[in-house]
Formats: sequence, structure tokens, C-alpha cells
Amino acid sequence: MKKILLIGNGAREHVMAESLKNSRYDVELYVLGGAKNPGIFKLSEEYVVADVCDKDAIAEFANRIRPDFAVIGPEAPIACGIVDMLLELEIHSASPLETVGQLESSKSFTRDLLEKYQIPGNPKFKVFYDEEGLEEFFIDLGEEFVVKADGLKGGKGVKVSGDHLKNIEEGISYAKECLIDSGRVVVEEKLVGQEFSLMSFCDGTYTVDMPVVQDHKRAFEGDKGPNTGGMGSYSMENHLLPFLTARDVNEASDINKKVVKALFEETGIYYKGIVYGGFIITKNGVRLIEYNARFGDPEAMNVLPILKTDFVDICEGIINKTLDQVEIEFEKKATVCKYVVPEGYPDNPVKGEKIIMGKVPADVKVYYASVDQRNDSLYLSGSRAVAFVGVADTVEEAEKSAQNAVGSVKGPVFYRKDIGTKKLIEQRIKMMKI
Ligand code: AMP
Ligand code: GLY
Repeated sequence: MKKILLIGNGAREHVMAESLKNSRYDVELYVLGGAKNPGIFKLSEEYVVADVCDKDAIAEFANRIRPDFAVIGPEAPIACGIVDMLLELEIHSASPLETVGQLESSKSFTRDLLEKYQIPGNPKFKVFYDEEGLEEFFIDLGEEFVVKADGLKGGKGVKVSGDHLKNIEEGISYAKECLIDSGRVVVEEKLVGQEFSLMSFCDGTYTVDMPVVQDHKRAFEGDKGPNTGGMGSYSMENHLLPFLTARDVNEASDINKKVVKALFEETGIYYKGIVYGGFIITKNGVRLIEYNARFGDPEAMNVLPILKTDFVDICEGIINKTLDQVEIEFEKKATVCKYVVPEGYPDNPVKGEKIIMGKVPADVKVYYASVDQRNDSLYLSGSRAVAFVGVADTVEEAEKSAQNAVGSVKGPVFYRKDIGTKKLIEQRIKMMKI
């Protein structure tokens, strides 16, 4: 029997919970989340609702249940030192300690790390601690730049020229705002190409890659509208993407490996958990956009349902530094994930409205996110609501399945029809050829 503490309450944590419960071990799941997720609740022994950064609440729960290990879903608890706190209680986690978790929580830390250890992938960039040289660097970059606030901002700290920032003046002004706010800002070259996510399991020295995935951040079809947490994603049966060669993926994989090694050299701490590289393939090769210290949401829902290996063995391999002894395999299947979200999401989402799920085909997986369940009915609670994942031999089939399911939800909701469709994928391949 294994007692496992899972922290988090989104669809990402729902698929993590499912994978843990699918283990050959008899798993007892103890969950602490910011809200009650009806899907995770069903799989759990006990479910505590508390802030995922509430150290007292987590320590009290962890001490009471004494789990064999913990797994953290979201970034915030990693950044606020929950893994460190659990370790003091002698509870190990398949998630990184705060210092190495800076890979996600500090954009300047990561850019500086790549530069110091001569790891390829950085765009032209500079970290500023005051205004000295700021304007000159903007002039040097020209019209194409990105300004990044340092710290976890839920995806809202990054502003891109031509998108959120109209001209150099607006760029400089936002950079100055960031300096006042946190005393640091990263200014960098704007990269042009196709983004992809390469997540690797990591025990501190050894990494194993998962299939690459492409997320869709924009709210509306045709990649229009505001940025969101991610409206959906797909992965292919050959574990590549239509615009990526095996060589490109190897390049990204090599960056993940080098970063893990550099992290240990820099801090003396082994990075244990998921290392998630957000990459972009440009005309000049693979470049790094950012790192995350956890599974992607939605990307976890593309990779975990096709994981053949026992996820508990992987978590224990990460914790015990024996990942090299675990044979990790994924099914050669394509996946398409589509989120249904409240009308008005992400800026002004409707809340508290009822939704009715249609008939979900047997080959589609359903993961709950921001929904409340009361008397067998589901109500929107403001963020991404429910994810539907089609798993099939081809992206085309997986897309049809996910589409049938997501399209049958009734209520004040919307979703992106185009995710995983041939048309959008072809557009993306074409963009790479221009
Ligand atoms: P991040 O929070 O670093 O993932 O940034 C959010 C989004 O901003 C990314 O998914 C990219 O679409 C965009 N972005 C970040 N850095 C760059 C860059 N150097 N060039 C172009 N786009 C970027
Ligand atoms: N899919 C984007 C993220 O998890 O940050």
C-alpha cells in the first residue's frame, strides 16, 4: 500500500491523481487543494480544502497522514517552499525544492544560468536591476522585444512587442514599472516561430523525456484574443510534432539535460521532479522561452494518459535517484485535449452558472478543473472548467473524439474548435516555411 499526498486541484492534478491510482500498488490518495475538484475527490481517501501555500494547514495534514511521499501539481507551492517544509517533516516529494524551483519562479535566474554554463537556447537578453543602460538596450533590440517581470505572475508578467506593447516607449515604461515592483526585469529579443513543450522526468542527474506537446494559449480560434492558461493541446503518435524533426527535439532535450546539471553545480541541490522546457523552433534553431518546474496544464493530460509505466515507480525513482532503473514508456498514440471554459474567460468569466455534460464517448477522458459539484450538478467557478482528451492512433481521430465530447457541453461556455485540426496544424507548418 502507498499513501500519497497530492497538492493541487486542477485538471492537471486530476490526471495526476488518476495515474497514481492506476498504479499496481494499492494507492491511498490524500489531497489538499484550493477548492474541491469533483474528479479528484472521487479518487481520494481524504480531501482537505485549503490554500496550496498554507504551510500550517499542509504540515498539519501531512503529519496526521504521514504519506510515503508527496507530489505537487502547481507552481505556487513549489515557489513558496512547500517541498522544503515537507522535507523538514521527513516527507519527500517528487517535486523540486524552492532553490532549484527558481528555474520557473525567476526568469532572470534561468537566463543567467544558461549564460553562465554556456547552455544554448537563450535569445539576446539583459537583466536590469536599475534603469542604467535600459533605453540603450531597447534601441539595440529595435521593434522586436519582450519584457518579463521577474517572479510568478500567472502568465501575466510577460509583455510582447506588437502585442501588448505598441512601441519602444511602452516597453521602457513597462520595464520601469517592473523595476519598481520587484527590483529586477528581464528584457529580451522577441523570438518568432512555433512554440512546443518538452517535459522530462528528472531525479537530479538523470532525465527521461515525455512526448513533445503543443499548447494553445490564445482564447479564440485562429490564435486570436487574450492569453489564457491554455485552451488545449495535442501530441502525435510518433512523439514529434508536425513542424519538428527528431533532431530539433534532441536539441531541446539536450538543453533540459544541461540545465539540470548546471542547477546542481550552481546550487548543490538536486532538481527532483518535472523539468518543463517551453521552447520555440525558429529559423535559427531551438530557443528557450521559459522553464516550468512542474507538469504543464493542459500538457499533463496529453502525456499521462499514454504513460505505460507505473507513475508511482517514476515518482519513487525521482525521489530515490533511481530513475535510470525505471523503464519509462509511452504508447504510440496521438492525443488532443480541449478545454471548455466559461463565457467571458479569461477577463470576465461568468461564474456560478450550471453546465450540463453531454454524452462522452468511451474513448474520451474527462478531467475536471474549475467546477463545483452540488447535488450531482456542475457549476462554473470562473477558470477553465473541464478538459476532454481524445486518445487515438492519429491526431485526426483524437481531435474528432475530443471535439464530440467538448461540443456536447451545454451552458454559457465556449471552447476552441480548431485545436488539433488539420487546418490549424497545416497553417502552423506553413508559418515555419515562410
Ligand atoms: P512565459 O511566461 O515566459 O511563458 O511567457 C508567456 C508567453 O510569452 C510565451 O508562451 C510566449 O508566447 C511569449 N514569450 C515569452 N518570451 C518570448 C520571447 N523571447 N519571444 C517571443 N515570445 C515570447
Ligand atoms: N501550458 C502552460 C503551462 O502549464 O504553464
